[in-house]
Amino acid sequence: MHPCLNNSTAEIPSATILVVDDDAQSCELWVRWLTDAGHTCAAAASAAEAMAYLHDHQIDLVCTDVNLPETPGLRPLQQIKKIHPDTLVILHTAVGEVATAIASLNDGASSYLVKPVLRDELLFHVRSVLERQRLILERRRYTQQLEETVREQTHLIRKAHEETIHRLLSVLAFRDYETGAHIRRTGLFSELLARAAGWDASRAEQIRMAAPMHDLGKIGIADAILRKPGKLNAKEFEIMKTHMLLGAQILEKSDTPVLQLAQEIALSHHEWWNGRGYPHGVSGRAIPESARIVAVVDVYDSLSHDRIYRPAFSSPDILSMMLDGRGTHFDADLLECFLSVLPDIQAISQANPDHDFQRAFDPSFWTISTLETCRTEPARENPPPQAIGIPVAHIAAVG
Ligand SMILES: [Fe+2]
Ligand SMILES: [Fe+2]
Repeated sequence: MHPCLNNSTAEIPSATILVVDDDAQSCELWVRWLTDAGHTCAAAASAAEAMAYLHDHQIDLVCTDVNLPETPGLRPLQQIKKIHPDTLVILHTAVGEVATAIASLNDGASSYLVKPVLRDELLFHVRSVLERQRLILERRRYTQQLEETVREQTHLIRKAHEETIHRLLSVLAFRDYETGAHIRRTGLFSELLARAAGWDASRAEQIRMAAPMHDLGKIGIADAILRKPGKLNAKEFEIMKTHMLLGAQILEKSDTPVLQLAQEIALSHHEWWNGRGYPHGVSGRAIPESARIVAVVDVYDSLSHDRIYRPAFSSPDILSMMLDGRGTHFDADLLECFLSVLPDIQAISQANPDHDFQRAFDPSFWTISTLETCRTEPARENPPPQAIGIPVAHIAAVG
């Protein structure tokens, strides 16, 4: 190895160049020409020396003879491109080896020169391959910046979705904080069930954001009904049943996938698999899968939490009631999926109790967390409503 380093004033573009040639005289001449042109040069007398030098140094361009001792032909080029794919290579060759040199272009060489090589010819080739590389790198950087911008914008759009949802839902929470905890759990349960049912992560995340809006229409239900501390009569119940249509109306005609999903959930989360639900009596797979998912988790959540007119049911009773709804109220396949993730559902439920009043009005409460967060959060105390002094809403049979 005989490095000939020189940092003279650089012409544009300048580079670090390794000249590889077993002919010391030719090698020194090239190093001098390139150094005089402003490049920083080193020299190697064999492919082995070149590889060793490349291992320890950052080199932009290698100018190598094709006919090196011990490793003739394109093997040195192939070795260099394999280990240092971004390093440029210019081959120089004798007249009889032009075919090999042309073939080298397919193996990653940037250019080739036929001996004897003139100074200006060498500098022209070096300049043109460096300029080409500069453009390639510039385009790569631009593409990376573009991708980063798209990622940032996507993140901002997603945050904007979430914020819109949070603000919509916080209105409901002000009217009925129990509903606040319920709708939060519904989102997290729905994501879990959607994943268990085979939804991909991105769509499952959408339902986590959309499902909390299933009862958005309750904003149009009078307090006398929404907050009635007793069972609803038939007329009141009919009015309560309009919350699906009201919610769908609020959410309709959106171009946003999350809001479109929320709209179909709001409209159909009280439809039954057997067609005996409402508002339209749709049955089976004609009910959007998103709404069938929310139907399962909505009822489960209602049964597993206290209501002003009854305490929460025991786990065996809940299980029995859910199973009674298999194929009548609920999609049997989704119910199976739900049962398979029940331990995680219970963990989410414990982490998000009904009467966590402070938490329901903390903005961070509405920062939709991941299922993993819920799994790792400690279970929260669930104080009785009287201790907080806030009227607890009656959600009746319409959850
Ligand atoms: Fe509902
Ligand atoms: Fe509900």
